[in-house]
Amino acid sequence: MTSLRARFMLSILLWVGLGIAAIWYSSVRLFTTHVEAQYHEELEVHVRELGELTRLDRAGRPYLIRPVSDPRYGVPLSGYYWQVTRPGFGSITSPSMTRGALDYDIAHSPHILHRVENGPTGDAIVYGFIRQAAPGTPLHFVMATDERHMLRNIRLFTRELTLWLGLLAAALLASGMAIITLGLRPFRRLGAAVDALRNGRAARVDGDWPDEIAPLVQDLNAYAARNAQIVARGRVAAGALAHSLRTPLAIMVDEAERLAEGTAPEAARTLLDESERMLRQIDYHLARARSGGSRVGVAPLADPGTVLAPLVAAMGRCHPACAFVVLAPPGGFAPVAMDGDDLSEILSNLLDNAGKWARGRVTVSERRAGGAHALIVADDGPGLPPDRHEAMFAVGATGDTGGRSGSGLGLAIARDLARDYGHDLLMEPAPGGGLQLVLHFAEGNALDV
Ligand SMILES: Nc1ncnc2c1ncn2[C@@H]1O[C@H](COP(=O)(O)OP(=O)(O)OP(=O)(O)O)[C@@H](O)[C@H]1O
Ligand SMILES: [Mg+2]
Repeated sequence: MTSLRARFMLSILLWVGLGIAAIWYSSVRLFTTHVEAQYHEELEVHVRELGELTRLDRAGRPYLIRPVSDPRYGVPLSGYYWQVTRPGFGSITSPSMTRGALDYDIAHSPHILHRVENGPTGDAIVYGFIRQAAPGTPLHFVMATDERHMLRNIRLFTRELTLWLGLLAAALLASGMAIITLGLRPFRRLGAAVDALRNGRAARVDGDWPDEIAPLVQDLNAYAARNAQIVARGRVAAGALAHSLRTPLAIMVDEAERLAEGTAPEAARTLLDESERMLRQIDYHLARARSGGSRVGVAPLADPGTVLAPLVAAMGRCHPACAFVVLAPPGGFAPVAMDGDDLSEILSNLLDNAGKWARGRVTVSERRAGGAHALIVADDGPGLPPDRHEAMFAVGATGDTGGRSGSGLGLAIARDLARDYGHDLLMEPAPGGGLQLVLHFAEGNALDV
């Protein structure tokens, strides 16, 4: 089971279930014992009273000098019965016993005995004892109470107990759930804080944390800081390396150009071609090393509208024959999880390409459908056959230049940058006939590394 909440819930369910069941069982047992004891005690008193009220008449037949004190023995079929029997001299019974008879055999000892017997109105707890009232046969005193009276009491108690314990269980479960929610809240908060860290809305996890989580947050912050430091150092090193190579290479190219005019044009050409390739690679890696927040693991939010404004102005100057149109959605562009400089780098490459190839119009728009979110740069130029689209993203790949200069780095850098953030860059035929470059943002616009 992976969910902490589910684990806690299961433990609480077990704990409350077992606890309540144990309370229920022991309460019912205790109550039953208690009620039984009380019944026995009461009926023993009654049967003893019966004994004291019984006399023998001249003929030796038993009679009561007055009715027993409990009125229930006077109500017909009330479930409370007595019977005094003197074998050979007849029996007298309580007015309640309008039918049937009690088995006087239960009364066969001077001590009060009891057992469950079949009575006039169902199973009854029967009490009895004998007394030698006069010479000859003894008197059998028997008293019976329907067991259902006692069982009904127990049943009523059990029902009420079940109801209250059920309510108690529900209350305990509800409070347990509240405790779990309360206890797990810092984790939810931590999740949101880590999310903010990942999305670049925060550079560290701030705030007050419970003692149990605080060390984790501390470690997390230390890790994030160290990560950022390593990346920054790596970027500087890569940039420095690329830069340090660039100057000697430029000198070599210069020399090779001079050679090309001289004695070994073939060798010089090879040298020039290879040097150019190296320069291209260096430019590519220099551009990548310069990229803002990429690979840092922290991606701030950038507003495409803000990034586009200066870009479009600059492109208008570079490609005066082309109109650059920004089709901002009614509420403005949605922010994207990227460093502004990186977004600018991507868009400037796309706008530059579009400007170079367009016949007269380049549009920038936003596409939002369901969870998908993309920025689209479309032109009305000649476009490219779909089977060549992917190839154009390779480092150094150029299509038919048609006289346009290009090193084939723009799209490679742009896609690499986009993928650093978990986004992607794809090429599609534009609806107007030209080409469009689609910058897809990762779902939830979040950095997913
Ligand atoms: N909007 C477009 N319309 C038609 N072809 C395009 C378009 N954008 C890019 N291409 C093709 O893709 C190739 C690669 O583009 P990329 O931006 O990577 O390099 P480049 O523009 O040639 O050079 P660089 O951008 O490095 O100066 C281009 O040479 C071109 O053939
Ligand atoms: Mg380009």
